[in-house]
Amino acid sequence: MNYTETIRSAGTPIVEDMLTEEISQLTIDHPGAHDADYRARRNFIARLARDYRENCRQGQRAVIPFISYTEEETEVWRSVYERLDAAHELRASAFYLSAKRRLGITGAEIPQLIDMDRKLRRLTGFRLAPVEGLVEARAFLKWLEKRTMLCTQYVRHHSRPDYTPEPDIIHEAIGHIPNFTNEDFAAFSQFIGRGARIASDEQLEQLSRLYWFTVEFGLIEEGSDIKAFGAGLLSSSGELEHAFSGNVERRPFSIAEVIATPYDYSDIQPVLFVIPSYAELKESTREFIEGFGR
Ligand SMILES: [Fe+2]
Repeated sequence: MNYTETIRSAGTPIVEDMLTEEISQLTIDHPGAHDADYRARRNFIARLARDYRENCRQGQRAVIPFISYTEEETEVWRSVYERLDAAHELRASAFYLSAKRRLGITGAEIPQLIDMDRKLRRLTGFRLAPVEGLVEARAFLKWLEKRTMLCTQYVRHHSRPDYTPEPDIIHEAIGHIPNFTNEDFAAFSQFIGRGARIASDEQLEQLSRLYWFTVEFGLIEEGSDIKAFGAGLLSSSGELEHAFSGNVERRPFSIAEVIATPYDYSDIQPVLFVIPSYAELKESTREFIEGFGR
């Protein structure tokens, strides 16, 4: 099944969830909120994502847009990448480090979504699709069942390269995408997606916690070491440093405990969970969602 088919078979709910008149609306405290050029650039990139989806929906040929990143955007990427790369060598899982290389992600240029999509399809059959910005939780997670991750393509505002209040291509490419080269992680993601489709609202909240404490802020055992694999950790040097500091309690992963642990988007994490392996994460998640919809 290709992306065109998945769009058609899924009907239209995601489109209604995402589209807004202005396409890309920035909150008043967003670092780019008062930068007219930045807002115009965001709208331009958002429009490409919307056109892509419209073409898919109408059964026309759609190609993930190639973004000609500006020198300013590339500089943001380079500075963030350089700082993170050194931290990754120390803190990221060995799997992640090799996956980043396999996908050809380097500090030189912002990787193109279309290139990473092609490579992922060959490796695990996972796919990437452009999206304008944040998507409501159920709509976003449901796409994972179709082995598709919705990814933003814009770059955070240059005034604060180490901060973004929302996902951007730096967060997607450095944080999320390398994990999908692992078959167990891809299957785990698919279970999350299936769960999101059939979950009650309460179960969806539990799934969101599972997603948060693994996909975004997960740690993993590696021999006698603990390493990071969560996207929120790997795409932020501050979060990464904090995760291994004495201010965080690192607990062994237990799905029952994870789904009972609330989190706060806007605050630094006081508790993180350490999974034994992607395979065990996949199995626990499969068992967990088997209880849904009964
Ligand atoms: Fe994320």
